Amino acid sequence: MVKTPKDNDIMSKLVSLAKQRGFIFQSSEIYGGLNSFYDYGPLGVELKNNVKQAWWKSMVHSRKDVVGLDSAILMHPKIWEASGHVQNFSDPLVDCKKCKRRFRADHLLEAQGIKPDLGTMKDKPKELEKCPECSGELTEIRQFNLMFKTFMGPVEDDASVVYLRPETAQGIYVNFLNVLDSMRLKLPLGIAQIGKAFRNEITPGNFTFRTREFEQMEMQYFVHPKEANKFFDDWKEQRMQWYLDLGMNKKNLRFREHGKDELAHYAKKAVDIEYKTPFGWSELEGIHNRGDWDLSRHSEFSDQDLKYTDDAGKKFYPYIVEASAGADRGTLMFLLDAYTEVAGGRSTTTKSIKEVEVMLNFDKVLSPIKIAVLPLSKKPDLEKTSQQVLDSLQQNWHCQYDQTGSIGKRYRRQDEIGTPYCVTIDFESLEDKSVTVRDRDTMEQERIKIEELLDYFKSKLKS
Ligand code: GLY
Repeated sequence: MVKTPKDNDIMSKLVSLAKQRGFIFQSSEIYGGLNSFYDYGPLGVELKNNVKQAWWKSMVHSRKDVVGLDSAILMHPKIWEASGHVQNFSDPLVDCKKCKRRFRADHLLEAQGIKPDLGTMKDKPKELEKCPECSGELTEIRQFNLMFKTFMGPVEDDASVVYLRPETAQGIYVNFLNVLDSMRLKLPLGIAQIGKAFRNEITPGNFTFRTREFEQMEMQYFVHPKEANKFFDDWKEQRMQWYLDLGMNKKNLRFREHGKDELAHYAKKAVDIEYKTPFGWSELEGIHNRGDWDLSRHSEFSDQDLKYTDDAGKKFYPYIVEASAGADRGTLMFLLDAYTEVAGGRSTTTKSIKEVEVMLNFDKVLSPIKIAVLPLSKKPDLEKTSQQVLDSLQQNWHCQYDQTGSIGKRYRRQDEIGTPYCVTIDFESLEDKSVTVRDRDTMEQERIKIEELLDYFKSKLKS
């Protein structure tokens, strides 16, 4: 298959495809949109659910040592003091006094090739004097806490402040004892959670890559401190393999270890799995050795003993190895990875159309629609058989019924949304009780008996 090289405006093409084909819409669009918030359309919600289900299956259902959890978004505000987020979870920002634009000071320095060391910086460096947009004067650096605050109950005072969680991880740490006691588990053990998190980012952007509301898929693995390094390395490899097993191109993935100066306040060691996006190598997932930071701090702040007692009666704080993935980032990067342009058209029916054909060659597990059912004509007897085929297939898989346009156009529409199989019902089907199954990737067509279709797809589709 001939692919055109991925070019610089691939993001705008993807954003446009995502909107036109019902994957991702700008949130509140009819009101002009809300900056950096997005809604998943009918195909987007399927794709993202498939990403989350694949993660849950791999991280929870296929393991003996990991269990799931679904904790509340709003939690006791002391949790965020203990976790260090009230004190440390902030970005350095500067404002332009003239055009009023707001920038991350570290990003401005990086753009000028300077490695920021804002923690130790006393005076504002000269590179932060002028606004890069209008050359106006920039303010002093201020630390801006990224947590969204709201108030619980009718009174808006300091005592009623609660935070929208900036990570799902803390819900797991504060339930460590509950899970341990109720599930009779021993170290090493993991607790996994998928859920929304919120960060009041100064510079969100790149479509759904950095948004203020996002969904995390986090797994916290509690281990004996002596084994933390070993499990850190294990998880690093396992998590990379997950993306590869779901069809991501190896050349678009890499590890990047965090330098000491960029480690989050809770991390002893951190490595990112990065994806090569059109806007540069970007974090897809973080693997962290959080040491005993979280459990010891929650013990101190809650006055509860969160130590683990081993079989020999020895008490200690387990270390935590965290695998923290973004469901929205993952979904975006699976979309980017699947996006393929074929110059000149690849299907015989569209050969005459000398234009670029777009397809999303998702792994079948991720495809929003698994099978499209396409009657060749709208004649009632053909429609009746097609409807029967659809009824039986959609008990097992998410299907789409499409009876408008030429068959070539319909195949292209399905290629464009990544549907791995099309089933065409023609007039011969009424005679030979068979249908044509077309494979998205090979474009090969096979004649299959209707009564054998379920078994056929059971062998082709894992889920
Ligand atoms: N829990 C780690 C993170 O949110 O980045």
